[in-house]
Amino acid sequence: MIVAIDGPAASGKGTLARRLADALNLAYLDTGSLYRAVGLTAIRAGGDPSVENDAVKAAQNLDLSAFSLTDLRSEEAGIAASQVAFLPAVRAVLLEFQRRFASHPPDGKDGAVMDGRDIGTVVCPDAPAKIFVTADLDVRVGRRVKELRDKGETVIEARIRADMEARDARDKDRSVSPLIPAKDAWILDTSSLDADAAFAQAKAFVIAKMPAK
Ligand code: DC
Repeated sequence: MIVAIDGPAASGKGTLARRLADALNLAYLDTGSLYRAVGLTAIRAGGDPSVENDAVKAAQNLDLSAFSLTDLRSEEAGIAASQVAFLPAVRAVLLEFQRRFASHPPDGKDGAVMDGRDIGTVVCPDAPAKIFVTADLDVRVGRRVKELRDKGETVIEARIRADMEARDARDKDRSVSPLIPAKDAWILDTSSLDADAAFAQAKAFVIAKMPAK
């Protein structure tokens, strides 16, 4: 069973995907963290994440264990990720890794929940359950500000908004794997849903798509 979850930053898809994986005995892959790790690897090597040579080298030498969750979730990593994600050669390196995970989920799981931007359109186009999770920009900015303040960071809301708009534009407008819902994706707008309500709706949707045992 493969569940493809796509959507913009701070739409609530990460929390949702993790909860679905736990509830349905599926492995979970946050594909954004792969792009984040590639971006940080390029920076740590003294390179520029928006330069193809530096970014591809980082993707080929990727060692996820070199990064803490805090490193990966930082705004610096998010911005670097959207720069490397713009490069088709980087996407090609990461595509194989993602497909292998989906077809051979670890720990004897019954399948995988893949969370990203192009899972339903490119990485797993045959996934039986595809969900495109979205929310209004204001709501997403508010969530990201709260998340960062809860972590004790000092944040300027206008900067978070500007970064998120820039990242949305880069994700949507790139020629390779732009952020768009797959034709057969179910659109889940979480603007006025809390995490529990979004989870309940998504779980019912996925269960209805599961093959009979
Ligand atoms: O979901 P996130 O914020 O961790 O993603 C970080 C960046 O990586 C985001 O700008 C889009 C990019 N990304 C992508 O292009 N394709 C994916 N499957 C996952 C993330």
